[in-house]
Amino acid sequence: MVLRAAAKFETCLNSLPGADPIMLTQEEVVRQLEDFILAEHNLLSVGNIPFEHHGKIEKGYPYIRASNASLLNAFQVVEGALGKPLNEAQFLEIGCGIGTKCELARQTGMSATGVDLLAEYVALARRVYPLCSFVHANALELDYCTFDIVYYHVPFFGDELVRELEQRLLQQLPLGSMLIVTRISDWLVGMLQAPQQNDRFQQISTNVDLGRLKLLRKISGAFSISC
Ligand SMILES: C[S@@+](CC[C@H](N)C(=O)[O-])C[C@H]1O[C@@H](n2cnc3c(N)ncnc32)[C@H](O)[C@@H]1O
Repeated sequence: MVLRAAAKFETCLNSLPGADPIMLTQEEVVRQLEDFILAEHNLLSVGNIPFEHHGKIEKGYPYIRASNASLLNAFQVVEGALGKPLNEAQFLEIGCGIGTKCELARQTGMSATGVDLLAEYVALARRVYPLCSFVHANALELDYCTFDIVYYHVPFFGDELVRELEQRLLQQLPLGSMLIVTRISDWLVGMLQAPQQNDRFQQISTNVDLGRLKLLRKISGAFSISC
């Protein structure tokens, strides 16, 4: 809904007679519309989101958005690297907030699911993007066995938690599945630099401009574990 409105809004702005050339990109228009919806629901300035994990209070980032354009570029690369057409792929966004990146994935043909810790974001995402699925859960406790493409941009603070998420994904995702991520833990940096016998993630290199995104694929080692 936001994306359709953004495309229309941008066309209207650009066709105003006598107006200066409009410099808003579609991405900026989408952000403005998202901000408007979030403000209407008193969700524009939620601070860090506390959650309990292993008996400790951890902190999640609020909905701080990464680039839509870079993710769309990443989808192009994934399309050639996944080994199945995108319209047969299951996409998951961890920390989906209002759900815009899920809608981008859905518009490329994937089945799109978002998960978020904040119930208010999930309720809003279900209304704004009714053709995607949204789940209210802690990503560190979710089951990842059915997803082909998992995307996230800094859901929570701390290298240890990021590492725990990566290890869960490595253990549960099917072989050949892809990660699209902005930040990886030191543990995963080490894995990418020193190939090993076990199942592991391998970085995909590309000439396409992915901004801050990294593209990784789960590949098989000598002692493969599957779901
Ligand atoms: C930095 S924002 C992500 C923005 C969005 N994914 C993007 O790429 O533009 C972080 C999101 O992660 C969610 N989050 C934080 N901790 C989480 C957790 N443990 N499980 C699921 N979602 C979490 C927050 O509610 C917030 O919506």
